[in-house]
Amino acid sequence: MAINYNERIKTFYLQGERFSYIFRITDGGRLQPLHFGTRIKEQDVSYIAEGRKTEFAPTAPGSETESLDVLTQEYPVYGLGDYREPAILVLTPDGGRTADFVYRSHAVLKEKPKIGGMPSLRGGETLVIELKDEIYDLTLRLYYTVYEKQGAIVRRATLKNGGEKAVFINKINSFSLDIPRCDLDKVCLQGGWAKERGVERSPLSHGIFEISSTRGSSSHHLNPFIALCDKNADENVGEAYAFNLVYSGSFSVKTQVDQLGITRIGGGINEKDFCWRLNSGESFETPEAVLIYSAAGFNKMSQNFHDLYRKFLINPAYAYKKRPVVLNCWESFYFDFDYKSVSKLIEKAKGTGIDTFVLDDGWFGNRNSDKTGLGDWSVNYDKLPYGLKALSKQCRAAGMKFGVWIEPEMVSEDSVLYRAHPDWIIRSPKAEPCKGRHQYVLDFSKPEVVEYIKRVISDLIKENDVSYVKWDMNRNITEFYSDYLKERSSELAHRYILGVYALAEHLTTKFKNVFFEGCSGGGGRFDPAMLYYFPQIWASDNTDALSRAYIQYGTSFCYPLSAISGHVSASPNHQTGRITPFSSRAAVASFCSTGFELDLNALDEKDMDGIKNHVKFYGEISDIILKGDLYRLLSPFDSNYFSQIVVSENKKKAVFILMKKLACCNDEYPVIKLKGLNENFTYEANGRLYGGDALMNVGMKFGNDLKDFETVITVFTAKGD
Ligand code: GLA
Repeated sequence: MAINYNERIKTFYLQGERFSYIFRITDGGRLQPLHFGTRIKEQDVSYIAEGRKTEFAPTAPGSETESLDVLTQEYPVYGLGDYREPAILVLTPDGGRTADFVYRSHAVLKEKPKIGGMPSLRGGETLVIELKDEIYDLTLRLYYTVYEKQGAIVRRATLKNGGEKAVFINKINSFSLDIPRCDLDKVCLQGGWAKERGVERSPLSHGIFEISSTRGSSSHHLNPFIALCDKNADENVGEAYAFNLVYSGSFSVKTQVDQLGITRIGGGINEKDFCWRLNSGESFETPEAVLIYSAAGFNKMSQNFHDLYRKFLINPAYAYKKRPVVLNCWESFYFDFDYKSVSKLIEKAKGTGIDTFVLDDGWFGNRNSDKTGLGDWSVNYDKLPYGLKALSKQCRAAGMKFGVWIEPEMVSEDSVLYRAHPDWIIRSPKAEPCKGRHQYVLDFSKPEVVEYIKRVISDLIKENDVSYVKWDMNRNITEFYSDYLKERSSELAHRYILGVYALAEHLTTKFKNVFFEGCSGGGGRFDPAMLYYFPQIWASDNTDALSRAYIQYGTSFCYPLSAISGHVSASPNHQTGRITPFSSRAAVASFCSTGFELDLNALDEKDMDGIKNHVKFYGEISDIILKGDLYRLLSPFDSNYFSQIVVSENKKKAVFILMKKLACCNDEYPVIKLKGLNENFTYEANGRLYGGDALMNVGMKFGNDLKDFETVITVFTAKGD
């Protein structure tokens, strides 16, 4: 049993293999965290929270002693003396803002219940705690699911209005937690378009720090991930508490250090674009939040995330399955193609081992640039006179599958769809609508819009023998007004994303054999909710090998390598102009779900051999990349190198990468201690034998003459295998 309740001391014990999450019910009926950290035996640890007081602190309703101002809490309320960030804020029918929730009951469920209309992790034993505001008849339920091996607790909340009148939810977090210390650093994944998920570490300080998005998507800029860690934590040592929202919309996660050095962290839907009318009898469900504990630094934290997402989040039909090796034609042609050029490209790919060709943007409507055509999901016969069917057929004949790019949430002003339904876009009621990349966002809170797109995309897939869909989303949302929701437009940001989930659920369920890849101007919607539908996501529009080393390194903090789509592209690189050897581009694209994104017709024979060799090599290592344990060895953010190793579960095989950023004359010789191997095995690599203990303790030595961006990739195989 992972969940236990001690009635005598009113304490809940959520126990994993190596961690405990312990909280209790106070005399005032509030939930108080006691320990989230290394596993301890069940015992009374309430002493840790005793005796906290301060002058001038108000006492909670009905209590002479309990002050919410200093009480550590699991789900704090607003307005009753706790001046820190609340987890919930409800406007009651009388205009008040002080709904209060106290413990009523709890239950342990064998199976984790699903959330309606939202992605969630699969899971087992789940604790549900019911808290109630008796005055307004509001029931708050907090859910906790334990993942014993992965050091994880998954949390969420629901609110039910049992009162006669509507209430308005101003804020409702997926989770909140008070940690009784503040000597911590915070680590975030920050960036922007073409430079997603850079690792940034800084000390936690008094006051509020927020990572958030108000863009209507989880965004390129701040991933819904944050870790708090010991000051001396690194990849291998130190405590790390990590948090990740299973949400693709506007979000917020805040940390707050208070006067007594308590750190509060909480997050969920961003309250800035959120005020939800909850009518009598209705319930509201928050998205999930993942809480991970590691006592052994960031590497273990990441492995916990990877294991959790591969086992319990990503579609099990694909999670561990060999991914299609794709040739995507975006960087081959951009918008400038016709039947002849596409057909020639497919012909050239024949026999390389590439197994899927993906026709990117520009194949539909009057789409000859990014100014027109979105929304018209039927083929552009001027460009492709024989339709998609001919290309799809040609792919099959060449031993490949056929895929298409779509951007189903968008519409161009110059499109048949917009002319027919100008009222289907998100815009303010009176002012001229904002554009982004010259396009509008469809109002996915309108059921008729989602129904229409469901139909059109289903027909597209069915009629053209499509096996792969790249689902893009290329602009941020503005205005947040819906003429469908009208005065309830403050629900639009969340309802929009529910519409996206509904479409994704429909298409991925209906077309089980079609592989869906996520994308949003590169990695602008790289989050666990998208991963639930799309087993892999295009990590960035930046395909430069060095930039990708940074991006993939940062992304791996939270997401498994299999979730990252990465392609070998042309040199000089189209985004950075950098010239890198083919071998480096292929090596970096090996540490993810691989593919190609270049014009094969422009390659010489040597590079075409490189393509074949990369497909072959990737075929040999893909099992390790997909299923193995990742160890980050050298960070490109902190050193002149990027280095990682992925080790198979039985430790018999490992793939290692080292990239040098910039060459240096008479440089030091890098010595890298490998990780995760079996110390008793003897490994073979490059025709030499090494003891696992030597590789991990003496290390591997590399030349000091590696050139700019030169990359070494090595496969270690345990002898006798
Ligand atoms: C986005 C994607 C690219 C490509 C273009 C097409 O930028 O990230 O990969 O599909 O759109 O317009």
